[in-house]
Amino acid sequence: MERLRFSFFWRVTVAILFSVSLLRPQSASAALVKPFKLNGLCMFCDVLPSSCNATGTCSSECNITAICEHPEEVCVSVWHTDGENRTVETVCHNPSLPFRGVMLDDYNNTDCVMKQYKGLGPDYYMCSCTGEECNDKLTFTQSEILPRPEVREVPIILISLLPLLVLAVLIMSFLYFFRLHRQQHLKTGAKSKCPSHDFCDTRAIMNDVDHPESNSAHANSLNHNMELLPIQLDGVVGKGRFAEVYRAKLKQKPTSASGANVPFQTVAVKIFPCEEYASWKSEKEIFSDAELRHENILHFLTAEQRGGEGQYWLITAYHDKGNLQEYLRGHLLSWEQLHKLGGSLARGVAHLHSERTPCGRPKVAIAHRDLKSSNILVKDDLTCCLCDFGLSLRLDSSMSIDELANSGQVGTARYMAPEVLESRINLENIESFKQTDVYSMALVLWEITSRCTAIGEVKEYELPFGKLREHPCVDSMKDSVIRDRERPEIPSSWCKHLGIKAICATIDECWDQDPEARLTAHCVMERLNALQDLDHNQLSQSPEQKIQNV
Ligand code: ADE
Repeated sequence: MERLRFSFFWRVTVAILFSVSLLRPQSASAALVKPFKLNGLCMFCDVLPSSCNATGTCSSECNITAICEHPEEVCVSVWHTDGENRTVETVCHNPSLPFRGVMLDDYNNTDCVMKQYKGLGPDYYMCSCTGEECNDKLTFTQSEILPRPEVREVPIILISLLPLLVLAVLIMSFLYFFRLHRQQHLKTGAKSKCPSHDFCDTRAIMNDVDHPESNSAHANSLNHNMELLPIQLDGVVGKGRFAEVYRAKLKQKPTSASGANVPFQTVAVKIFPCEEYASWKSEKEIFSDAELRHENILHFLTAEQRGGEGQYWLITAYHDKGNLQEYLRGHLLSWEQLHKLGGSLARGVAHLHSERTPCGRPKVAIAHRDLKSSNILVKDDLTCCLCDFGLSLRLDSSMSIDELANSGQVGTARYMAPEVLESRINLENIESFKQTDVYSMALVLWEITSRCTAIGEVKEYELPFGKLREHPCVDSMKDSVIRDRERPEIPSSWCKHLGIKAICATIDECWDQDPEARLTAHCVMERLNALQDLDHNQLSQSPEQKIQNV
């Protein structure tokens, strides 16, 4: 019961003080024991059934008089009917606080004059007054019908509900956007079993604006609307650690006046299953740097999320000759071909490592970290282009030592530099990462050289450290490369050819045990460029032969 706050102690006190009147019929007690009026003395029965019909004057029919708990409290009566039952409620109340949501404004009267409060119910009357038992006699005048209390309460209710309203609006907006986002995700990834990823990434990132190797009519237009490219997969041409590479047909848009002379362009599609999202993302980020573009770096067209298939695609140029390892296995090379392949490889690595483009624009240096002959493609003109940047690292000067250290021991054990095998890279110097690439590049240069007819008798193709099993582990590579300081053999017979001799000297300086002693890729590139200027006779004759000729 609201306001039933007077204690048992008070009730007992009141009972003693008014022992006579408590047992009285109301009117008699008023006559007998009321020499003066006391404030704070009110009828207090809470709710009682009533015979009053809300006309004229009625008695509260309450037999309990209470001293209100607080001196500021006044007497209040409420008459109410629900149609069948009538009740009268008598209580004390502090008029500075709302009572049933309404401020009492007539409590200074000694009479309790009933007013109807429409908003509290169809038949709801209240009165308040000050004076001894003043809420016992209820006067119904029917003169005043007060506005609905809600009207007065509206500002209070609104203010108190405002934080709740704001919260509700926020929650509803959150739910709305969450649903919208989920619907979009379901549309693109209905079949994907993978957790949702950062879908702020564009669905398709085009990187193809006026690149000389690009002849796709789609590329530039799709750059704007982010639609998936119309691609038809043909067959698998390679399997990597994280993804499979397909040869595919990219349908060409008919070109204006001349018509569609080529219905499609052959492209390579590297497909990452959804579990390899992180590899796709990191390779995509490496490729997305426009300054990476170079004739000796695989040309990137676009990256796509193929939600329906739960896959992530990287679409690049396709090179029919396949990777360098396959090519060397199946072909012998002339000196010119060796020079072309080796020189282009060094140019590709030099560009990757460089902090400037050939035009002098700044670019972020990148370490490949998995250079090997199967990650290098052979282009139609028999030059190399680097591919598979899944383990590559942007050597941003903002990278902290922790970030560099966390990047871990990565790569393929066979091609790992001694300091990588030992996990002892100097993280204080980003050049260290380039030096590990130079070591791997030296092994690839050795592979190319080993297939060149200019070395004399050419053996069957062998990988570097080919005597080891197919996928040697880090420990067996440590035994060979660190403990035994082994390197692939360079027989002296190779060096009869001056060009080969120069290349082998360069290789030897690139696979030095001491990373600091290794040449830079840029230096290798310049040394190979210099060999271009030597004519055929100068290169193929040993010094002894040359002396004889003179
Ligand atoms: N193998 C891996 N990537 C390739 C590509 N882009 N072209 C041809 N073969 C590949």
